[in-house]
Amino acid sequence: MVTVVIGTQWGDEGKGKIIDTLAGQHDIVARYQGGANAGHTVVYNNQKFVFHLVPSGILHRHVVGILGNGVVIDPASFFQELTELEKQGIDFSKRLFVAENAHITLPYHKILDQIEDEKRGSEKLGTTGRGIGTTYTDKYGRIGIRVSDFINESVFFNKLRIALGLKNYLFQKYYKESVFSVEKLADEYSRYRKRFQELAKDVSFYLNKAIDDGRKVLAEGAQGTFLDIDFGTYPFVTASNPVSGGACTGLGIGPKKITKVIGVAKAYTTRVGMGPFPTEIKDDLNEKLRTAGNEFGATTGRPRRCGWFDSVIVRYAAILNGIDELIITKLDVLSGLKTIKIGIRYVYNNQILEKYPLDTETFENVKVEYEEMKGWNENINRVSRYKELPELARKYIDRIEELVGTKITTVSVGSAREQIIYR
Ligand code: GDP
Ligand code: IMO
Ligand code: MG
Repeated sequence: MVTVVIGTQWGDEGKGKIIDTLAGQHDIVARYQGGANAGHTVVYNNQKFVFHLVPSGILHRHVVGILGNGVVIDPASFFQELTELEKQGIDFSKRLFVAENAHITLPYHKILDQIEDEKRGSEKLGTTGRGIGTTYTDKYGRIGIRVSDFINESVFFNKLRIALGLKNYLFQKYYKESVFSVEKLADEYSRYRKRFQELAKDVSFYLNKAIDDGRKVLAEGAQGTFLDIDFGTYPFVTASNPVSGGACTGLGIGPKKITKVIGVAKAYTTRVGMGPFPTEIKDDLNEKLRTAGNEFGATTGRPRRCGWFDSVIVRYAAILNGIDELIITKLDVLSGLKTIKIGIRYVYNNQILEKYPLDTETFENVKVEYEEMKGWNENINRVSRYKELPELARKYIDRIEELVGTKITTVSVGSAREQIIYR
């Protein structure tokens, strides 16, 4: 049994919290794409854990955590994350594995990511600067370095020499930056080798056997549907496939192994970084929502842009990902608003669009039609039964369900594990 959990907006939907909640009933939690650009927050026992590469289900001691071949792994940030989590009391021994065919991010990827985004000037993407796009570029350019290369000292040295031959040319001749020494970098990174040797695995083989043996797998998506390289608001996207289909290629499992797809949506919308955002709120309420929802990036600390729930994109996400059920997070953040708006339709050139347009030029210029609903005043942080939610909050959930066309099974009303309501 494999359940894929994906974000239906622009990331930060609360996937980490939902994965943590679901992981109790699963044996394995596996990340399938993205890298340390992700920031997944879990609050448990009044302690806050922020996961960048480590799967968010790892707080459950029986859970095995996997980083699939679709993930790009920055050894420096990965081991820093492990050290910090170990300090917080997590024991990873024999229950964390990385795919031997996953690609690794090196310092030149991060520097190139930052330079390239800077050079775009006013057209910059606002990447996380974690070297994500540049690592995937090298993967497809076939000058990437994989975990299996990295753990073999001489292979690593040779591949690094080839890659730096190309990168140093760019740094020196084009960007007028200092170059990297193959020897120094190889030496510096040798400290991570032993640990990677212990963690490396043929993850596809391991997962397929585990699934056949009846073990339950959660595939953890990072980012969100509209940051997807193929279906998102290109070029304002990340460099991987967060959509549910990415779980197959990013873990090495066949499509028939996936038994369920769960979509996570915030009760409103946020976006961090540049790019079109039709339901973005342009007045003081933007800041009010940011404060109420503590909307600051878990990876970069940047303020997130806030807007109303956009049913057009979430409906598209439901179809594209084949979502079986939808989970709504952060409903509590909307408490106290007199009216709540929902984006229900796009108009472009005086014509109603029947769906989210893949063409970014069109998407940038849509006019959103809204529906207004009455808000509720009650604090709902402590509500644990669906019927105890204020009637107006339930009406809001009903309306979203109707507009998106997917069953809403669960509502989250706070960051802690227990602040969750099953419908
Ligand atoms: P992810 O990237 O999808 O895992 O989401 P992030 O962790 O980046 O951002 C979600 C933020 O909202 C985190 O700080 C969570 O602790 C918090 N959060 C998750 N669910 C809820 C909720 O239902 N209510 C509130 N108030 N906060 C939540
Ligand atoms: P989680 O998993 C929100 C955004 C960046 C930028 C764009 C490209 O926590 O939901 P990248 O560094 O990936 O090349 O940046 O994607 N972005 C995210 N936004 N949540 C994330 O992850 C994100 N990961 C990348 O802000 O706009
Ligand atoms: Mg996040």
